[in-house]
Amino acid sequence: MDEIINAPKSMIHGDEMILLNRTYIDSFISTPESLTFIEIGSQRGTGSTSRLSAYAKALGLHFITVDADADNSSSAAEIVSRVDRSFEAHHALGEVYLSSYPHDNIAICYLDAFDLVTDWPHKESTINSYKKRNAEFSNQAAYEMHLKASEAIVRKVIPGGFICFDDVWKDANGIWQGKGKTAIPYLLSQGYDVICYMQNSLLLQRTDGLDEEKRKKVASYRPPMSIWLKYLKRRLASVFSKS
Ligand SMILES: C[S@@+](CC[C@H](N)C(=O)[O-])C[C@H]1O[C@@H](n2cnc3c(N)ncnc32)[C@H](O)[C@@H]1O
Repeated sequence: MDEIINAPKSMIHGDEMILLNRTYIDSFISTPESLTFIEIGSQRGTGSTSRLSAYAKALGLHFITVDADADNSSSAAEIVSRVDRSFEAHHALGEVYLSSYPHDNIAICYLDAFDLVTDWPHKESTINSYKKRNAEFSNQAAYEMHLKASEAIVRKVIPGGFICFDDVWKDANGIWQGKGKTAIPYLLSQGYDVICYMQNSLLLQRTDGLDEEKRKKVASYRPPMSIWLKYLKRRLASVFSKS
């Protein structure tokens, strides 16, 4: 393990970021039956795979979740098959899976994989999972993994489609930090725009290739009050818990 970074306390998780902006997201998905929702980093206790696969089902998208850890992947397989028997869970490196993913039909991709080494201690089982597959557990490796995943899907996400990151934040100088440290600047240089950012998650949208009317819709979008309320409630709770 190398550097340990100080991560700010997360107020909004990536899967909440997607679900709280769902009315906006839904409005860009017109042919869900031919599109997919891919989650890289299956749930490990907090329930993202259950919630996001249920959302995909409701919207009519095909759902795929991918994880590098065999145990996590097999429990993800049980979760998704209960939602829809055609939904898939793969035991693979997310960046490798996405590189060989053959279709340009991704409506939403949730990138929440290779863990960061922060001042919040990891469980022994998490550290062992990296050791077991001989992966160097470092922040540099986390940045590279999320960058490779982003490079793989930059044009496989449909125009108007979304990429969401968890565990990302802006530092005091406005520089992106966390899992998307190098992936976010890359995507912003490739026709993606910030739709919603709240400590510690970010929703990006592919806006190149959109017509004038859709571009206007992007430019005028404001995240719903519900996400602000959730954020403020948690922020206040964290301030009071310190005092
Ligand atoms: C933070 S957890 C995911 C949490 C989940 N998205 C949730 O919100 O409940 C990160 C997961 O990424 C997995 N992972 C680590 N490196 C990976 C890689 N290169 N490809 C795919 N999954 C990876 C880990 O095994 C772990 O299960």
